[in-house]
Amino acid sequence: MKILLKIAVSLPFLALLLGCEQPVSYSRDVVPILQTNCVDCHTTSGQGLVKSGLDLGSYEGLLKGTRYGPVVKPGDSFTSALVMLIEHRVDPSLKMPHGRKSRIEQAKIERLKKWIDQGAKNN
Ligand code: HEC
Repeated sequence: MKILLKIAVSLPFLALLLGCEQPVSYSRDVVPILQTNCVDCHTTSGQGLVKSGLDLGSYEGLLKGTRYGPVVKPGDSFTSALVMLIEHRVDPSLKMPHGRKSRIEQAKIERLKKWIDQGAKNN
């Protein structure tokens, strides 16, 4: 009985560990999230690019950040400005996606965070 309980308790941990190991890919995981939620404002003549200088249409643009500096700190999602904005840990006027009430789905936020924590690679 005790051993069964132990297995039952450790399974979610195991799943969590395995989940952390899996590398998140820029092209496979990150690009679709940015395409759906951000890129219409953050490329060419979009208001996000025009106002902040942040071009989310390419890896180089994402890593370069705004005209004031980077919004992604490889290895540190918690203090990355981009994550603060999409988690709404900022002044309401700066929440992203801009002007929309709801946050992007939590699962997508987690994927972006994991990608940054794994080094924000062009993979
Ligand atoms: C409806 C248009 C729109 C959408 C969609 C949008 N943005 Fe923005 N974004 C803006 C505008 C406008 C600004 C400039 C805000 C300002 O300076 O007042 C901005 C600025 C930013 C900044 C820089 C903020 C700073 O520190 O100056 C980041 C980072 C950002 N957006 C990330 C994102 C991400 C990530 C998404 C998708 C989840 C997204 N945006 C979706 C319009 C948009």
